[in-house]
Amino acid sequence: MSATRIGLLGYGNVGAAVHRLLDGGAAAIERVTGGPVQVAAALVRDPGRHPAAPGGLLTTDFARLRDDASISVVAEVMGGIEPTRAHVLALLRSGKSVVSANKQLLARHGEELFDAAEEHGVQLRFEASVCAAIPVVKVLRESMIVSGVHRIDGIVNGTTNFILSRMVQTGAAYADALAEAQALGYAEADPTEDVTGADAAAKIAILASIAFHTRVRLEEVEHAGIDRLDLSDVEHAAELGYATKLIASAIQSGSAVVARVHPCLVARDHPLAAVEGAFNAVMLRGESIREVILEGPGAGGEETATAVIGDLLAVIGTRGTGFLQHDGYFRGLDRLPVRELESPFYLRFDVEDEPGVLAQVAQALAERGASVAQVVQRSAGGVHIVILTHRAREGAVRDAAAAVGALGFSRSEPVVLPVLERGA
Ligand code: HSE
Repeated sequence: MSATRIGLLGYGNVGAAVHRLLDGGAAAIERVTGGPVQVAAALVRDPGRHPAAPGGLLTTDFARLRDDASISVVAEVMGGIEPTRAHVLALLRSGKSVVSANKQLLARHGEELFDAAEEHGVQLRFEASVCAAIPVVKVLRESMIVSGVHRIDGIVNGTTNFILSRMVQTGAAYADALAEAQALGYAEADPTEDVTGADAAAKIAILASIAFHTRVRLEEVEHAGIDRLDLSDVEHAAELGYATKLIASAIQSGSAVVARVHPCLVARDHPLAAVEGAFNAVMLRGESIREVILEGPGAGGEETATAVIGDLLAVIGTRGTGFLQHDGYFRGLDRLPVRELESPFYLRFDVEDEPGVLAQVAQALAERGASVAQVVQRSAGGVHIVILTHRAREGAVRDAAAAVGALGFSRSEPVVLPVLERGA
């Protein structure tokens, strides 16, 4: 059988790893797909930056890939929005299937790209866009169709999980831990995307869309990162028996959905609390499956390349339009207001050490129906009053915190972090 010729958009860390792993796994690939797979061309901006690439492979001419009828599938591993979007659209329109590792592209322009794929009878796969080596997209799209998945909670950014782990385990400063994550190749080109939660927001938008069969747009995903997280809160949380993690959640309740990213307290016996370093984990909950947890490396060139190759082989192994390509099952759903979500909350008030302060904090919560479960007070210039509430409505807790923050004894804006519940 003649070789299946594939193209690469990009030949950086991930692209070179895809090439290497395809060559290294040639025998296994041939067994699985029935024939050899060969990388025919790779589009790059500057061939001089890839001296190790085989001669004749690299091109700066996009048309060479687009117009080569012998290339039936292309892996997009160049990142960015433009010209990537234009290239991917042009490839789909020229009848080539595309595999993409680009979460921002999928989260922002997925609808347009899927429409083009549908119209031209080709496949668009995107496993590598979420959690690198963890096959969560495949599981949600192919294995969970009747599982009634109604909630996803995940640690989906390796850089921030690495930073939080380092800070807790070794007392490393935030900036040092970030520099280490960058050196290890976990961080995005612009690490602001990691630390502000934007990277995780794109990933949970993708996961929510495929889990709930609706289009959850990136701009709808409220996100907070770890860049404004104070180390004292991580320490207080640890003292109370909780790990602090950047959690991406997607929830469906009846006909409404919400997706968000936020630092969260996670009880030490919760499986997500044990996920350390650049590892990611995604917990899926559904009526029929109860709880399924997928855990593994969520960042890194070779790890991401394994997911790209999984998709390439799925395309090659299911020629024509794969049955998962059709998105006729997408429907419109309402949005669940974040303020109506319920969970226990961690609150930290930085206040003057004066009589009556604690009483006013407790009163602000009580007036809004939020009940206190634990209180800890620590000296820190003034004092930190740390409160764990029982389950309460997020809007009520945030209103109470804002009311306390406006009182004269408050020295800074109160911190409000939800506590992730196991059985909700
Ligand atoms: N920068 C991402 C992370 C890796 O830290 O998880 C790719 O998504």
